[in-house]
Amino acid sequence: MSSRKIRVAIVGCGNIANRYADRIQTYAACELVGFCDLDPARAKDFAAKYGGRAYASLTELLADPTIELVVNLTIHFAHYEVVKQCLLAGKHVHTEKPLAIRYSEAKELVELAAARGLRLGSAPVTYMGEAQQTAWRILRSGKAGRVRLVYADINHGRIEAWHPNPEPFYAVGIQWDVGVYPLTLLTTMFGPVRRVTATGKVVYPDRVTKEGRKFSLTTPDFVLAMLEFEEGLTARLSANFYVQGGKQRGGLEFSGDLGSVYLGDFQGFDATVEYAPLGAAFETVPLVRPGFKGTEFARAVEEMAEAMIAGRPQRASGAQAAHVVEILEAMGTSMRDGGPVAVTSSFVPPAPMDWADGK
Ligand SMILES: NC(=O)c1ccc[n+]([C@@H]2O[C@H](COP(=O)([O-])OP(=O)(O)OC[C@H]3O[C@@H](n4cnc5c(N)ncnc54)[C@H](O)[C@@H]3O)[C@@H](O)[C@H]2O)c1
Repeated sequence: MSSRKIRVAIVGCGNIANRYADRIQTYAACELVGFCDLDPARAKDFAAKYGGRAYASLTELLADPTIELVVNLTIHFAHYEVVKQCLLAGKHVHTEKPLAIRYSEAKELVELAAARGLRLGSAPVTYMGEAQQTAWRILRSGKAGRVRLVYADINHGRIEAWHPNPEPFYAVGIQWDVGVYPLTLLTTMFGPVRRVTATGKVVYPDRVTKEGRKFSLTTPDFVLAMLEFEEGLTARLSANFYVQGGKQRGGLEFSGDLGSVYLGDFQGFDATVEYAPLGAAFETVPLVRPGFKGTEFARAVEEMAEAMIAGRPQRASGAQAAHVVEILEAMGTSMRDGGPVAVTSSFVPPAPMDWADGK
């Protein structure tokens, strides 16, 4: 085991940042050394809690030659600019999703990282979870036969019920905030998508924040898409920011010629996994190893740091994230113009986790 640690800094010290910092500080391959935020008080609070330095600005953080890997936890609309600035400063980057909100920008970031010899990875990485790896392992085993249809139905509830700053989540649109999870899972398992047909609407326009501030939606809070994969799979993706506490929260059902696999949640690493031979009842399948409770968002940061130390490629790739951005953009085009929209980019899917491979 190497004693080398990758020096990691976080930009964007908001809601999700504690979940990252709590885990990163426990990873043998990482040393959490710095923070910055548009609001300097937030960065100071993080430095006080986790140790390391609060930088006055991203420019100041990037000027520190000892920082190797920047974890970008800013809000969706800032990702492209922040990631670009980090890459131009010679830093490896792992970013929250989406990589960018335009495919042209996502592609530019992938090309920039490649040209500079830097690593670029992006959330979501829930395919690294124990439940998701278990479902994938059953699919790889061939037990369910050829999978031709997947239903991914995400009832994500109302962001304003828990998040102090919900407006950006609604402004970017549900497919960008939540649809991105099943899309990344499915492209990990089945490779690139080639055609997208989508529709959507605002089903619950008038919202109120926890503090009583009224806001209204113009971007669909319900979307429905048919995704056609290069390898032949067809998937239905539905997602909404309305149904809260429904029976179905975020499951994926994979239907094959010989049976079906059910993954109870697209993001919980300890989700239920079930298998049913064709026409028979579903039975619970034990996870390949005990599942992390909930979602370990920072798992990809550890994986990238370990890959940097070992000198191998990391699993979460900018190319896959850019492909997902192209799908998301195609969904928007189809929703606006009607009809199917072609998707052209490709990527090399990540390998299964070592602990889930071949068992
Ligand atoms: N909150 C969650 O449960 C959750 C879960 C998964 C993923 N995410 C993703 O994490 C990201 C952040 O979400 P959040 O909920 O923490 O948002 P948030 O609004 O709570 O925090 C974002 C932080 O980034 C800072 N920021 C924005 N632009 C910046 C910039 N240019 N430079 C420096 N700091 C900047 C803001 O001041 C704020 O402190 C989003 O991309 C979201 O999709 C959030």
